[in-house]
Amino acid sequence: TTTIIDEKYRPQFHFTPPANWMNDPNGMVYFEGEYHLFYQHHPNGTTWGPMHWGHAISRDLVHWEHMPIALKPDHNGFIFSGSVVVDWKDSSGFFGGGPGLVAIFTHADQYPDSERPRQRQSLAYSSDKGRSWTMYENNPVLVNEAHTDFRDPKVFWHEPKQHWVMVLAVGDRAQFYVSYDMKNWTFASEFGMTEGSHEGVWECPDLIELPIEGSNDTCKWVLIVSIGDHPDYPEGSRTQYFVGEFDGITFTNENDAASVLWLDHGRDNYAGVTWSDVQRPDGAKLFIGWMSNWKYSNLTPTQEWRSAMTLPRELRVRRTPLGTRLVQQPVPELQALREQGQNLQWEGVTIRPGDNLLAGLQGDRYELVCEFEAGLAEEIGFLLRTSDTEKTVVGYRAAERKLFVCRSDAGESEFHRQFACKHDVQLEPLEGRFRLHIFVDHSSVEIFANDGEVVITDQIFPNPSSVGLELYTRGGEAIIHRLDFHPLQSIYAY
Ligand code: FRU
Repeated sequence: TTTIIDEKYRPQFHFTPPANWMNDPNGMVYFEGEYHLFYQHHPNGTTWGPMHWGHAISRDLVHWEHMPIALKPDHNGFIFSGSVVVDWKDSSGFFGGGPGLVAIFTHADQYPDSERPRQRQSLAYSSDKGRSWTMYENNPVLVNEAHTDFRDPKVFWHEPKQHWVMVLAVGDRAQFYVSYDMKNWTFASEFGMTEGSHEGVWECPDLIELPIEGSNDTCKWVLIVSIGDHPDYPEGSRTQYFVGEFDGITFTNENDAASVLWLDHGRDNYAGVTWSDVQRPDGAKLFIGWMSNWKYSNLTPTQEWRSAMTLPRELRVRRTPLGTRLVQQPVPELQALREQGQNLQWEGVTIRPGDNLLAGLQGDRYELVCEFEAGLAEEIGFLLRTSDTEKTVVGYRAAERKLFVCRSDAGESEFHRQFACKHDVQLEPLEGRFRLHIFVDHSSVEIFANDGEVVITDQIFPNPSSVGLELYTRGGEAIIHRLDFHPLQSIYAY
């Protein structure tokens, strides 16, 4: 399929399927110079349906080459979410000595004698760098008749214990299983009975060891868990995380059981997990999420395709006054998209109510990097993708110390009554200053505040002609210590 790149709302620097439906990112793995991205895909329609694994490959995390569908439904059912690992030592025996790629995913069907959903974990393998896949003949490899929600295996190699670990979403808990060959799995432990949010079913868990910023050798384990939509909660489906330790068998949460940490404070970052086998210099992991929400994902106003991924992000943890927190930064590779010689820069500017430093600028695809001091302002912020009738607001309310996004007038929103909304999150100054790093594309806005400590990811559907932007302050003067505006190239530019 060829991508219709000028289709209304088609993102220009985010990953989208060429056509039809996409949900969760799956099986991300780095192998022989290639970043693989698989994804939940319905190749015959623009709404959720019989799940396949779509596939794309990148060498730079920016440009993606679409590959043929990797996994199709078979006699064991649909292909739900899961992961891919490099089996370096051929522990699975699939590769005559190895290495090769093993996919571990959920086969979803129904019990033969009833309508009850059945979810079982299965394997497929590839000896040709992910180009072709063979289903393991003895699928499934992990079953449990007691649970209807039993899915989304994320597998990794635990070096100290010399075994594979699978983290699985089971009802509203996470379970850990261990294996030496990925064909036989033993229950190790369970986490979550009393911890975190249980506003919906738990999905797409990931367990990763992350470097603590600024310390050379210390790490923390982070358990990421997505939570399904629930009609009672306006936020819809979203993602929480836990910080703690993992000994190869058991995860321990270092925070209070009742505390809930959200990975993103926008509405559109779901089912995200990390790449296997990536080696960044400081041990950071790479993450990508599905930039939609089960509340309205089937209804968004696109034609030929539906939904995009977030930008790829680096994950680390940071010690903050509030505790150890997950931080997300856009991958530096994205700087390759900055249009050479077209950036604009301001330094040390005082702005007053009524001023618009950005008057005359236009754009529907850019990056803003801003360091400011609220000063006497009650509110300071950006109006993005504006026209006479549309605007997306990214603002900071000084008295409440809250960063917010308002997409109520951003553009099309009639497709779901809860799409139009404003949401906010606490944001504390660092020595009196704030940093915002904002990415705007044809149908999204992503905000990384204070170097990734607070993130907001939201879809928006502005008219293509809404390209104005404004920097405003209300109630008093504010100081822009630095502002950079970078128009971004389309990934389809060549
Ligand atoms: C999360 C999810 C997963 C499941 C997949 C099905 O968005 O519900 O739990 O494997 O989507 O497409």
